[in-house]
Amino acid sequence: MGERKKLLEIRNLKQYFNVGKPNEVRAVDNVSFDIYKGEVLGLVGESGCGKSTTGRTIIRLYDATGGEVLYDGVNVHGKKTKKELKQFNRKMQMIFQDPYASLNPRLKIADVIAEGIDIHGLAKSKEDRMNKVYELLETVGLNREHANRYPHEFSGGQRQRIGIARALAVDPEFIIADEPISALDVSIQAQVVNLMKKLQKEKGLTYLFIAHDLSMVKYISDRIGVMYFGKMVELAPAEELYRNPLHPYTQSLLSAIPVPDPISERTRKRKTYNPADHNYEENEPVEFREVTPGHFVLCSEKEFRKYQSQSK
Ligand SMILES: Nc1ncnc2c1ncn2[C@@H]1O[C@H](COP(=O)(O)OP(=O)(O)OP(=O)(O)O)[C@@H](O)[C@H]1O
Ligand SMILES: [Mg+2]
Repeated sequence: MGERKKLLEIRNLKQYFNVGKPNEVRAVDNVSFDIYKGEVLGLVGESGCGKSTTGRTIIRLYDATGGEVLYDGVNVHGKKTKKELKQFNRKMQMIFQDPYASLNPRLKIADVIAEGIDIHGLAKSKEDRMNKVYELLETVGLNREHANRYPHEFSGGQRQRIGIARALAVDPEFIIADEPISALDVSIQAQVVNLMKKLQKEKGLTYLFIAHDLSMVKYISDRIGVMYFGKMVELAPAEELYRNPLHPYTQSLLSAIPVPDPISERTRKRKTYNPADHNYEENEPVEFREVTPGHFVLCSEKEFRKYQSQSK
């Protein structure tokens, strides 16, 4: 694990909205984690916990309130020349939740997909541009006849494939997929996840894959981070997180996943998480601590020792 290269280092990231006003929201509150090159990091947590804001701040859609994001060692939020900004915009791409709202309805699919190719001057000629579009359509399981159609002529799953093709058009290294399958029919979700997984392997891509429950990210993620109210409460390799969830919030998320076996499903107990159960003393430091190698939990010193003995 030690030799893996860090593509992103997120350090004490903060994103507050309406600072100083009564409606101040600490959407991302002192979050630190790394994303290794070539991995899929799943990010889960209930609605409003700050997943999208984390992704959007990493990709610079928002200025950070505090902390930093290093991409290949370079501060994403630092001062940059136009050329450097353009390079960043090319390396990092985003795939959105709503395939209906994220494609411009007035553009033909070819122009939707080629937008980045045009911005970054990646085609040598009109013909080269169209060939790239055709290839991308085929890469995502559509075909070249689709190039001249408009977004409304496609299903949700097809539109999400178009969104993926558009992201891939600029040959990115890092893709933030913000609930890319949540708006899709359950029967289509697996197809789109499989496609994303295949492309990630083939192209050596790095993903931050956002979802709100743990059942969706299990299959695609190498590691999983769990967020609760703006904080990262647990981060571990995917298997470890399912096998040995330590934070009570993670345990409650896992208990919410239905199990395929009807007998265990009938006896499945839903755990609820109550933050007051931690019973922290005033001023007791609660930190993101590494319980076993690669398994981090937001906890007090006392909890840390308990988690360590549980993990032996
Ligand atoms: N532009 C904004 N201005 C003010 N508050 C915001 C803004 N964007 C998000 N928030 C708030 O920040 C918090 C985190 O929102 P965010 O969209 O990141 O959550 P999420 O985990 O992505 O939720 P979901 O699963 O519903 O997509 C929420 O309380 C939200 O209301
Ligand atoms: Mg979101």
